[in-house]
Amino acid sequence: MIDQATIDRIMDAAEISDVVSEFVTLKRRGVNQLGLCPFHNEKTPSFIVSPAKGIFKCFGCGKGGNAVNFIMEHEALSYPEALKWLAKKYHIDVQEEEETEHQKQLKDDRESMMIASAYAQKYFTRYIWEENEGRTIGLSYLRERGLQDTIIKKFELGYCPDGKDIFTQAAQKQGYKMEYLEKTGLTIKRDDWVRDRFSGRVMFPIHNVAGRVTAFGGRTLKSDKNIAKYLNSPESEIYHKSRVLYGIFQAKREITRQDKCYLVEGYTDVLAFHQAGIENVVASSGTALTPDQIRLIKRFSPNITIIYDGDEAGIKASLRGIDLVLEEGMNVKVLLLPQGEDPDSFARSMSSTQLQEYIEEHQTDFIRFKTKLLLEKSENDPVSRARMISNIVRSISVVPDTITRSMYIKECSTLMDVGEDILYTEIRKIMMKESEDHRRKEYRAKAVQQQQPATPQPVNTVKNLCEIEEREILRVLLKYFHTEVFEEEGENPDETISISVGRFVLEEIENDGLNSDNALINQFLDFFRENLDNTDFKPMPFFTNHSDQRISQLASDLLSEKYTESKRWTRGGAFVEAEDEILDLIVPKVVQEYKLRKVKNMLSELEKSIQLAASDIEKVMSLQNQYLNLKKVEKHLSIQLGNRTITR
Ligand code: CTP
Ligand code: MN
Repeated sequence: MIDQATIDRIMDAAEISDVVSEFVTLKRRGVNQLGLCPFHNEKTPSFIVSPAKGIFKCFGCGKGGNAVNFIMEHEALSYPEALKWLAKKYHIDVQEEEETEHQKQLKDDRESMMIASAYAQKYFTRYIWEENEGRTIGLSYLRERGLQDTIIKKFELGYCPDGKDIFTQAAQKQGYKMEYLEKTGLTIKRDDWVRDRFSGRVMFPIHNVAGRVTAFGGRTLKSDKNIAKYLNSPESEIYHKSRVLYGIFQAKREITRQDKCYLVEGYTDVLAFHQAGIENVVASSGTALTPDQIRLIKRFSPNITIIYDGDEAGIKASLRGIDLVLEEGMNVKVLLLPQGEDPDSFARSMSSTQLQEYIEEHQTDFIRFKTKLLLEKSENDPVSRARMISNIVRSISVVPDTITRSMYIKECSTLMDVGEDILYTEIRKIMMKESEDHRRKEYRAKAVQQQQPATPQPVNTVKNLCEIEEREILRVLLKYFHTEVFEEEGENPDETISISVGRFVLEEIENDGLNSDNALINQFLDFFRENLDNTDFKPMPFFTNHSDQRISQLASDLLSEKYTESKRWTRGGAFVEAEDEILDLIVPKVVQEYKLRKVKNMLSELEKSIQLAASDIEKVMSLQNQYLNLKKVEKHLSIQLGNRTITR
């Protein structure tokens, strides 16, 4: 258990935009900040951070909350885990009881796997620096490759001792369970034997965006051709290699700062670039580039430069990469290195300024890259020239943005000496075929779906749980609970008592004996009632930081809702824009609207009851009486609210 005082300190320190920008590039938008939502795939930003309210909200997928909620969602952590994550970030000590065996067991699989991986990384790192074998074999290899100690430390490189299961035994002795050693792939276990996956290898820990180790790459130092040069952790609950980029944690700040990301092939390329002072670099490492990896970069910048070897494989990989990047609506440049060089060897062969200059000068946009490449092959053969044009057009056709597309068409037209109209016709053909294919696919998917029982659509549960009017009541209470709006005469003449928004609203609701049908809303109202006289009660942090996620979620949802009065209020002839200047108008209105909603609901309930009671004359009469009385109330409220036309 983390005590409340510590939680408060963490919440005070955890500035929402600071926390979110660890993962998302935010741009200022008035008093708020805007970025691409990390929780769903989007091309135009609808993810808003409000530093003033301490919350985030995505208007695309509906996710929202405070800093803790963000970390819970983003890092897939529980509430206390997310608090600890933040505590670590802000150097706040969390006093906790020593973990019992039982608690250790309770930690979920993912967390246990992360902990085992973190232990392994520390073990391997200690081994390369402190153990004889590690130093003479692992460290000296890295140094011979020209890597400086600072880089070796920065990337937490290590060495796994050469033996059958030296690491596994050490880990087990420290209390790490075989289950998680096996699930992370650090240990390979069969019925009758156990061994270290990475024995005798130099270890490259793979960090997720948040900096936690989730997997490893290991390079053998043996020259035996039958041994794989690089070995990677297997796919696991914490490691999906198609979604991870090597170096993203160490690069993300610089990618944002430079607004550009270099993409290279492997671990050693990333290290060499860092050593050359270029830190906005990541590698897809061991796999072909995937859309998820590109989206990961996109969180930090829309600009990618692919830097691959100039060999056949490098060219092929670049071409594939180009279309993937374009499809994500990002900008792509390409730089092929001279034959026989990879980014690693190339970076080491020159000074860092030379390297930077070389990249700046030689990177080309993808159309030039393709044209040059294809021209070399096709020479003057008209057939292959036509094929080449359609190849480039195909790339352009995947670009989602029309304006960017037309820019590319212009460039292609100039470079290839083809009329723009011809290119447009080609593109239209491709796009029409694409959408036809797409329709067919959807049609097929629908047909399959119809054969299966309907799956419930994901809905924004909170929104559907309650009425607009109830949300509005809560929103006003959240924001202005203690604000004084009215004055009342006291017991003695001349004495006036100020009435707060909270008191006014709660008393109005109480007087009419109103209650919500929604337990969550009633919970909110109860908290407000309990704290009516407690001036230390700060509703905004209290609710947004609440440990019950339904409460904190609804609170931050409400706080990110705009005041939606379309009519502009005037006071003394002047327009009033700010909500808090017209609370004396708004608050009663919100209450009356809530009452009106209640009355309307009751009326429709009564209508149903009257129909059901059809033959029971007495009952019908009594219900009709109630109905007419309520109708009067409805009319009264409507008139007060200025809705003179009453339907029904
Ligand atoms: N790589 C990989 N799997 C392999 C080979 C290579 O994942 N089987 C990746 C690694 O990330 C490596 C990069 O490709 O950093 C470059 O490959 P390579 O040059 O073969 O590896 P090096 O360790 O640089 O080996 P060498 O010293 O022979 O250049
Ligand atoms: Mn190499």
